Amino acid sequence: MIRSALMNVMTAAAIKAGRGLKRDFGEVENLQVSVKGPGDFVSAADRRAEKTLFEELSRARPGYGFLMEEGGEIEGADKSHRWIVDPLDGTTNFLHGLPIFAINIALEREGLIVAGLTYNPISDEMYVAEKGQGAWVNNRRLRVSARRSIADGLIACGVPPLGRAPLHPHFKSELAAVMAHAGGVRRLGAAALDLALVAAGRFDAFWERGLHPWDMAAGMLLVREAGGYLSDADGGDAIFKSGSICAGNEAIHRHLLQLLRAA
Ligand code: IPD
Repeated sequence: MIRSALMNVMTAAAIKAGRGLKRDFGEVENLQVSVKGPGDFVSAADRRAEKTLFEELSRARPGYGFLMEEGGEIEGADKSHRWIVDPLDGTTNFLHGLPIFAINIALEREGLIVAGLTYNPISDEMYVAEKGQGAWVNNRRLRVSARRSIADGLIACGVPPLGRAPLHPHFKSELAAVMAHAGGVRRLGAAALDLALVAAGRFDAFWERGLHPWDMAAGMLLVREAGGYLSDADGGDAIFKSGSICAGNEAIHRHLLQLLRAA
C-alpha cells in the first residue's frame, strides 16, 4: 500500500465523496420505476460528489488548480499542481442502477501525472498509484497480465453512444478487426475502471476514442505503474489531445495497435 501524506488526502476525499454516491445510488434504484426517471437526480449526485472532492482537496492543498468534469478548469495560485477530477465515471451505469462506476482523482505536477486514484464505492475497491511506488488495489500490488497472445486475451473497449454518432463507422471497423483476433471483447461503461482492470491484469488491453482527460488521468498512472504500456489509439503520445487511448501489457498493446491502425 502507499502510505504518503498525498495519498491520505486523496483517499480521504474519495471515501467522503463515495459515501454520498453510495447513498444516492441506493435512491436511484427506487427512481428507476418513476415516470420522470432518475436523470436529474443523477446529475445532482454527480455535482454533489464533485463539490465534496473540490472542498476536501482544496482544504488539504490550498492553491492547487483543478480540471473537473462538471466545473471545468479552475486556475490555482500554484501553477505547477493541478487536480484532474471525475466525480462519477460511468454515469450511464449509475443512472441504470448498475454498480460499475468510480470516483477519479489524479494529480499533475508540472504537466506530469504523479498520483492517481480510482474508487468504486459499491465494491469498495480503491485503486491507487503514485509515480515510482507501484499501483495497488486496497492492499494488493497490481501487475498487468503476462499473456502474450491476443487470441488468449480479453480486450476492453468503449462503444461511442448515440450522441457521438460520427465515431460509429470507424468504431465498427475497429471492433471487427479486434473481434477477428481477440479471445474476447468487453464493454464495461466506465473508462477509469477499464484502465484499472488493465493494471490489475484482468483485461489484457483497452482502447477507446472520444474520452476526456478526467476519464483517463488516474488510470493512465495505474497502468504505467503496473508495468503496462500506453499510447493514443493511433500509437502516438497525444492521449489527452486526441481523447483516445490504447493501454495494455507490452505484447498485446503492440498487437492491438496494429489492428487499430489497419482498421
Ligand atoms: C464515460 C465513461 C464511458 C465512456 C464514455 C465516458 P462519464 O464517462 O467512461 O465508459 O465510454 O466515453 O464519457 O461521462 O460517465 O464520466
